[in-house]
Amino acid sequence: MSESAKLIYQGQEYEFPVITGTENESAIDIAKLRASSGLITLDPGYKNTGATTSAITFLDGEEGILRYRGYRIEDLADKSSFLEVSYLLIYGELPTQAQYEGFSREITHHTLVHEDIKKILEGFPSNAHPMGVLSSLICALTAFYPASLNPNRSEEEINLSIIRLIAKMPTFAAWAFKNEMGHPVNYPDNSLDYCSNFLKMMFALPAEKYDVDPIVAAALDKLLILHADHEQNCSTSTVRIVGSSQASIYASISAGINALWGPLHGGANQSVIEMLEAIKADGGDAKKYLDKAKDKNDPFRLMGFGHRVYKNFDPRAKIIKKAADDVLEKLGVNDPILDIAKELEHAALNDQYFIDRKLYPNVDFYSGIIYRALGIPTDMFTVMFALGRLPGWIAQWKEMRENGEPIGRPRQVYTGSNQRDYVSMNKR
Ligand code: SDX
Repeated sequence: MSESAKLIYQGQEYEFPVITGTENESAIDIAKLRASSGLITLDPGYKNTGATTSAITFLDGEEGILRYRGYRIEDLADKSSFLEVSYLLIYGELPTQAQYEGFSREITHHTLVHEDIKKILEGFPSNAHPMGVLSSLICALTAFYPASLNPNRSEEEINLSIIRLIAKMPTFAAWAFKNEMGHPVNYPDNSLDYCSNFLKMMFALPAEKYDVDPIVAAALDKLLILHADHEQNCSTSTVRIVGSSQASIYASISAGINALWGPLHGGANQSVIEMLEAIKADGGDAKKYLDKAKDKNDPFRLMGFGHRVYKNFDPRAKIIKKAADDVLEKLGVNDPILDIAKELEHAALNDQYFIDRKLYPNVDFYSGIIYRALGIPTDMFTVMFALGRLPGWIAQWKEMRENGEPIGRPRQVYTGSNQRDYVSMNKR
């Protein structure tokens, strides 16, 4: 029996259907609210508003559950690979061996980018933040592949754009880093796997032999899996709404990269390290910074803590915290800010302010400590987040297009001036 919800407004009763998903989440379908009652809803930040139905990722913020296409994040992080998870998110099922080999081969053979990309890159000053370079180069793909501007291309053509994005993003990310370092760029090495190729493009220097450390490549692969999708977060919602206007997939992903950049979202991993380094430089007094985070008159927030949805441990943070210990031990890295992070976490988890507000470490709290141990510079951390989130953005964009969703266009409640007559300047 289908459920419904009633609204009584100005003595009139309105009834709306309630839909329930496969994990028993329910929502009031208000598609006919304005037409029937003249009312709209108001929900700044969409904290209580579902923008869509989706079969890609399920998360339960109260229970700290995260699954990609029904598979537990813990299992995927432990047993799968980033390219296999990318295939799963985008196409809906785990690939067969043959499907995986074909997907991986396609990606390997699209890693090279047009030489003219270097002319765009050279236009950026060396102090350009790599996220701005990355979003620009991704959007520049619309110029090198103008057929992508046709919103009604065939599935095969859209799939080629998807392969190009996954293949070329690591090249762009590494080149953005090289531009910042003033080093010559490295071309992809198609004899290497996805993460090893990226690391070599990042860190190889002319006239020096560079061997990828398998521990580093494996740690990076796990981190990319953990960042691969997270349902309707800020940057994914951006990708969906830009894509809903039938802008090209490259323009949609470029917009998502820019949304991720903010310190309240993907930029938090860079802010966490900057915060931990500031605490270390200030004598390592975790309690002093905890008190600052609680002080309403102080703009300081405990970066890497709190989440719009998770009101329990972010399952990714748990996995990354353990991985941080493992990777730093294997690499023989002793990073004092890891101890500060653990002290801060312990203090916050036992502090009433954080307990009352259900603020726990999120995916960004420990990830930067691993990136640092892998030799990745701080302002590249959010680029790493974008590299991981790419298959999720693609899967969500593809689902939105396949479901024929309408252009996104929220309403508003106007609070400005009522009508008034224009008075020319010489009479004011
Ligand atoms: C990501 O959405 C996703 O899925 C995102 C993500 C993904 O995978 O895509 O998980 C990735 O973006 C993780 C979040 C990274 N951001 C940070 O770590 C920045 C620090 N966190 C906060 O800015 C905050 O927690 C947000 C932005 C993440 C969530 O903010 P909300 O849901 O809007 O919560 P809120 O601002 O309404 O906070 C509720 C209360 C407030 O206090 P009161 O007004 O009730 O007294 O909690 C307080 C806030 O002041 N609070 C914090 C805090 N986070 C919330 N106080 C101190 N430090 C913090 N970090």
